[in-house]
Amino acid sequence: MEQSIHPDSNIYKFPIHPFKRFNKKCVEFKQPVEITCFSYDENRQLHMDDRESRYYYPPNLEDCNLSVGYENLIQKSEGPEPIHSLLDALIHLNETKGDEVKADIVSWRGIFTKLLCTPYNRNESWEFGATLYNVSIHETEQTRLYREGSTPKAKLMGYWGYKFEALCTIGVPATEIQSPDDPELLARKNTIVNTNIQYCSVSKTSLGKNRLIMGAEVDCLIDFNPPYPENPINRYIELKTTKILKNERDNFLFERYKLIKFWAQSFLIGLPKIIVGFRDDDGNLCSLKEIKTLEIPRMVRGKDKMWDAVICLNFLNEFFEWLRRVIDIEDANSSYVISFKEPYQEIEVTFCHNKNPVLADRHLKSFGK
Ligand code: A3P
Ligand code: MG
Ligand code: MG
Repeated sequence: MEQSIHPDSNIYKFPIHPFKRFNKKCVEFKQPVEITCFSYDENRQLHMDDRESRYYYPPNLEDCNLSVGYENLIQKSEGPEPIHSLLDALIHLNETKGDEVKADIVSWRGIFTKLLCTPYNRNESWEFGATLYNVSIHETEQTRLYREGSTPKAKLMGYWGYKFEALCTIGVPATEIQSPDDPELLARKNTIVNTNIQYCSVSKTSLGKNRLIMGAEVDCLIDFNPPYPENPINRYIELKTTKILKNERDNFLFERYKLIKFWAQSFLIGLPKIIVGFRDDDGNLCSLKEIKTLEIPRMVRGKDKMWDAVICLNFLNEFFEWLRRVIDIEDANSSYVISFKEPYQEIEVTFCHNKNPVLADRHLKSFGK
């Protein structure tokens, strides 16, 4: 750490304005490299392998209502994802391969995504906790209210995204599919959606001088003909659903508010391709579009009231540099709360001293200073 502060110090603030300080040469972002992966099975048991990875196979658009099977949905317990499984994966990597983890910040990709979009998402509050070696998400009042007060329609719409994943993926490489009646293809129509199941990739990268490790859920992959690319991330595909775009205004809202998130989510782990499923208001899947992650910033560049990927990246780099100067955690009973809330002018960092260790003993043994 370049600078330490007394633990009893007050609140530290990182202003979002003036915006133009981020409008300069883009900070270097290294191509992310996968270092390990893990899976959660249907019972939410953790496995240090890729058993839950799925292959992409285009859905049959003629018969695609995303509400089908909603009544059978099996949903994992809600609330923020603890960081423990990601740290367990890093320990496992060290124990099995002797690879040592060198990073300044370890967290879920979802957190980095929120941070990266912050300059342009000035009405979404968030709160993260930072402790020795990691940043994890806290539930804010806004997200709790959203989750608990969510309407039946909003819950159903949440299901559409998962159902789209089920309809776009199979358990074997696409090259093994012989005909449209292949049992793998027929089975996916009736798959019971279980959100416990996840395949996660862990990658390392750096943004300027900030070394990052991210855990990210990956929806599916494509089977290249051998030889496979060395970095498995090149094979990954992100699936997203969105409303069909009927007019200029829909188009603007999609590019301004959705594309930035699509880009940030996939760019951060170097994932090259996003398949977008456009659906109508009743959840019927109408069309598909393939978007290359790296082409997204160019799709919106120069357009009025849009966003700029360079500003997002420079912002994140400078925020991380500042955060690492402000935060100096010596023990696992200390943590910081990092929050962004109304009136959305600055990010606040507050020191806390928790009575109970934030990390489990096994993590302290492996990562503790
Ligand atoms: P869509 O993004 O297509 O709507 P992901 O795309 O990140 O893999 O997430 C898969 C799906 O999980 C999402 O699909 C959405 O349906 C659901 N989901 C993810 N985050 C959510 C959130 N914060 N609230 C509600 N649903 C969410
Ligand atoms: Mg996903
Ligand atoms: Mg997805």
